[in-house]
Amino acid sequence: MRFLPLFFDFSRAEVALVGDGAAAKAKLRLLLAAGARVRWFTDDESAPAAIADAPRGQTDICSIDPRQADYSSFVAVVSAAGNRLDDEMAALARAHNVPVNVVDRPDLSSFIFPAIIDRGDVVVAIGTGGASPVLARRLRQRIEALLPARIGDLAALMRRFRQRAAQAKRDAGALRRFWEHVVDGPIGAAALGGRWHEAETAVARAIEHPHTPDNPSGMVFLVGAGPGDPDLLTLRALQALQNADIIFYDELVTAEILDRARRDAKRVPVGKRAGRPGIGQDAINERVAEAARQGLKVVRLKGGDPFIFGRGGEELDYLRQAGIEVVVVPGVTAAMGCAAEAGLPLLFRNEATQLTFISAQHAGDEAKTDWSKYADPKTTLVVYMGLGKASAVRDGLIAAGRDAGTPAAVLLRGTRQDSKYLVGRLDEIAALAALAEEGPGLLVVGDVVARSDIWRKTATHNVELAEMAA
Ligand SMILES: C[S@@+](CC[C@H](N)C(=O)[O-])C[C@H]1O[C@@H](n2cnc3c(N)ncnc32)[C@H](O)[C@@H]1O
Repeated sequence: MRFLPLFFDFSRAEVALVGDGAAAKAKLRLLLAAGARVRWFTDDESAPAAIADAPRGQTDICSIDPRQADYSSFVAVVSAAGNRLDDEMAALARAHNVPVNVVDRPDLSSFIFPAIIDRGDVVVAIGTGGASPVLARRLRQRIEALLPARIGDLAALMRRFRQRAAQAKRDAGALRRFWEHVVDGPIGAAALGGRWHEAETAVARAIEHPHTPDNPSGMVFLVGAGPGDPDLLTLRALQALQNADIIFYDELVTAEILDRARRDAKRVPVGKRAGRPGIGQDAINERVAEAARQGLKVVRLKGGDPFIFGRGGEELDYLRQAGIEVVVVPGVTAAMGCAAEAGLPLLFRNEATQLTFISAQHAGDEAKTDWSKYADPKTTLVVYMGLGKASAVRDGLIAAGRDAGTPAAVLLRGTRQDSKYLVGRLDEIAALAALAEEGPGLLVVGDVVARSDIWRKTATHNVELAEMAA
């Protein structure tokens, strides 16, 4: 490690910046953001415009030769001349014991600028020793994806209560446990969720309350895993997975998604597997609640979105009634994921103006399904859990007046590596569904199917050809 990472207070410190053009301006922005006073040695005609938004007196444009400057007042020199002047600036700064950075020249620099993630009080700096700014930026993107957007707000909240907490908890161990309880528990979740007032009130109460538990209280993240492709996880879902102690997951959750979870998180399958029944909703509720009561960070991971045919509402009710804190993290529901992959616009200007998601669970039961609600030709109908009920869906819709020739699709294992899409007409949909070797799958009925990429790619829309393409 040649460069030791340090956080330097530049506010009101005077820094010399040398050079014109984009590189100098990029450093100028950074120095101004850190509150430095910048003496900018430049002949750049656009320099006055570049400092127009800076607070008055924070930047000084100097047209004198920087080699003649008084180095005793500078805490650092940044040189972006891009020519031999850089070598001279580096030598001069070193002669005056002033730290120097020469842009893109780590060999001449005594300090370098890292790639930075700036979330207010939380700053992450990534360095490659000057070897590769591109690599540093790539790393920054990855780390950025893992950091909650409001992490700086949480840090600011903790800074505000730091002194009060230290006074209330004299023993260092108790103080550490108190802050762990804040960061890992409901208070942290409230701050990261933007519920600022709630978080603040809860910290104040926890400081004053003598019975604040020493162990962080557990909580449950009810997380939507999306339809299968791990890249469709939301950033918040990824953060929850990376923080989890234990994950209870359904059968629709793919191995690739579980791979994104913290390595040592315990993984517990609770869905139906290979035709075997699952442990049942009551048992799932109890096990999830029990894990939270043990103080664990629990993720209840469901395919798609937890509230779309996922029984997420029931689980939320149960946990709330049990007094357990729950954070709901939405997921990309199967219809959205499949539609995007198939290039199928679910709504289309005047042609498809209503979108309906139904479950086919009661499709064969006429008393429970009123098909007339979906007969409107401008309605796009997406049927979940419908592979085995496609003939009932077809018959119900046609009997209710939907045109038998309406474009229709069967979308199988959408966004997974083995996804497969079949298209045809409504009166062929049961035959198409019968071609599915394995689910999960959706049925889609509506004119918009004819606008999809998969429709365009299929030369003739009948079952025999779909079968040949399979
Ligand atoms: C119990 S529901 C759960 C739905 C989930 N909560 C969601 O928002 O996507 C299960 C049904 O979702 C649909 N489904 C889930 N993942 C799918 C995928 N990758 N491709 C096609 N359909 C899928 C199938 O209709 C499956 O029978």
